[in-house]
Amino acid sequence: MFYSSLLLPEFDHVTGNEHISYSVITSASVTGNPIAYASNNFFLYTGYSPKEVYGNDCNFLQGPDTSPEDVLTIIRGLKSQRSFQSTILNYKRDGTPFWCQLQITPLKVHNGRTLRFSAFQTPLCEIHDGAMKPVMPLFKEPLQAI
Ligand SMILES: Cc1cc2nc3c(=O)[nH]c(=O)nc-3n(C[C@H](O)[C@H](O)[C@H](O)COP(=O)(O)O)c2cc1C
Repeated sequence: MFYSSLLLPEFDHVTGNEHISYSVITSASVTGNPIAYASNNFFLYTGYSPKEVYGNDCNFLQGPDTSPEDVLTIIRGLKSQRSFQSTILNYKRDGTPFWCQLQITPLKVHNGRTLRFSAFQTPLCEIHDGAMKPVMPLFKEPLQAI
């Protein structure tokens, strides 16, 4: 699945939509690769609470229409021990499906062992009644320039 094939031509993806992004860090050395950190936007966007998130594998975000092939791409990416990018169908806590772009990076220690994975996730669009809709910004006011 290519990211570009998910972009909706009617939206200006460079300047128009403020994408929401969130990040997680998982413990690669622990069975199940549990989430050890999730940014505030993770909870705000997905609707899950810290109790439901911490200690779990990120795969709870997947659902009935998530493609097993896309999951396989992630598994291969994690095995490669290198940074990779992928796109997958995920679900919010209320069941809303959304396409999410993942950027996953292994965090290695001096002996080359991967201790943790970090991920930067960007929801691209949501599916409502079978139609793709842009992801609405969490905050209405634009951030002030520093
Ligand atoms: C740091 C990190 C972040 C991840 N984020 C997501 C995510 O946002 N959505 C998702 O569907 N899978 C995500 N995954 C992938 C799943 O956690 C899991 O590795 C994948 O589904 C394959 O394992 P499984 O076959 O046990 O489900 C992430 C994995 C890692 C290591």
